[in-house]
Amino acid sequence: MTSLNPKVHPNPKVHLTEEKETLLATLYGRAVDSRSKNPILGDTMAVDTVRRLDYDFKKLHMGPGDSAAVALRARQLDVWTARFLSAHEDAVVVHLGCGLDSRVYRLDPGPGVRWYDIDYPEVIELRRELYPEREGYTTIPSSVTDPAWIAQLPSDRPTIIVAEGLLMYLTEEDGTALLRRLIAHAPSGELAFDAFSAFAIRTQWMNHVVRRAGATLHWGTDAAGVARLNPKLEIVENISALEIPGMEKLPAAYRVAARATALVPGVRDIARMYNCRF
Ligand SMILES: C[S@@+](CC[C@H](N)C(=O)[O-])C[C@H]1O[C@@H](n2cnc3c(N)ncnc32)[C@H](O)[C@@H]1O
Repeated sequence: MTSLNPKVHPNPKVHLTEEKETLLATLYGRAVDSRSKNPILGDTMAVDTVRRLDYDFKKLHMGPGDSAAVALRARQLDVWTARFLSAHEDAVVVHLGCGLDSRVYRLDPGPGVRWYDIDYPEVIELRRELYPEREGYTTIPSSVTDPAWIAQLPSDRPTIIVAEGLLMYLTEEDGTALLRRLIAHAPSGELAFDAFSAFAIRTQWMNHVVRRAGATLHWGTDAAGVARLNPKLEIVENISALEIPGMEKLPAAYRVAARATALVPGVRDIARMYNCRF
């Protein structure tokens, strides 16, 4: 594990609202998973970060099922990103809506890789107070929907675009334009992300993380919608969030509940993970 930089602010106060505040739920989910008896992701850095932040994490009401779901999603994106990095030692990683996720430290890419973490300026400012700099690693403080920041990315290297828990917060118009711009900028690569269905957007009042943060979900899509993003895009893997590899690590009660939920038409597809090539 990379140790945290003790020179930066020891206990930053957190003032994030709406979709920005939801990053604290995913961070806390990873910390709870890491402290569990049988961790799925084992993100020890999340535990340190939660300890350091001046924020009442208890108010998020993240139960063991919520934290396992967060850890499974993060692990799957780690697997896809690590696979891309092992095939391309000169890769570019574009990590959209990074929040306080420590993927770059978990995967510890080689010296040839250029890794970019992008989120709103307030989030990047907090990241910079908490996490150490590293060679080949750049944080970009910007809304992902602002077209200007993309000019900072190399355009001559294989590129993986990673978006975890982000696209549903964008409008379909903004999300589509963003992904099309990124695909047009890179010569070739992959896109790894999770997306909600239109049903999940309609029933967002049931999503307690989103509701408590006062955030709004906009974009729901499915495999046909993903394919329409760009004719170059080929879906390589498409996994229901209720069937992500690693579920076997969950306590039996959660596995049974996930399997039963996956049988309900519409609900099985409420959230899916996609790995695409372009
Ligand atoms: C649910 S959190 C996920 C954070 C991180 N990916 C993780 O898994 O911990 C959603 C993230 O998307 C970011 N976000 C939402 N809309 C954004 C936008 N237009 N531009 C940049 N970041 C955005 C939020 O600030 C937040 O960090």
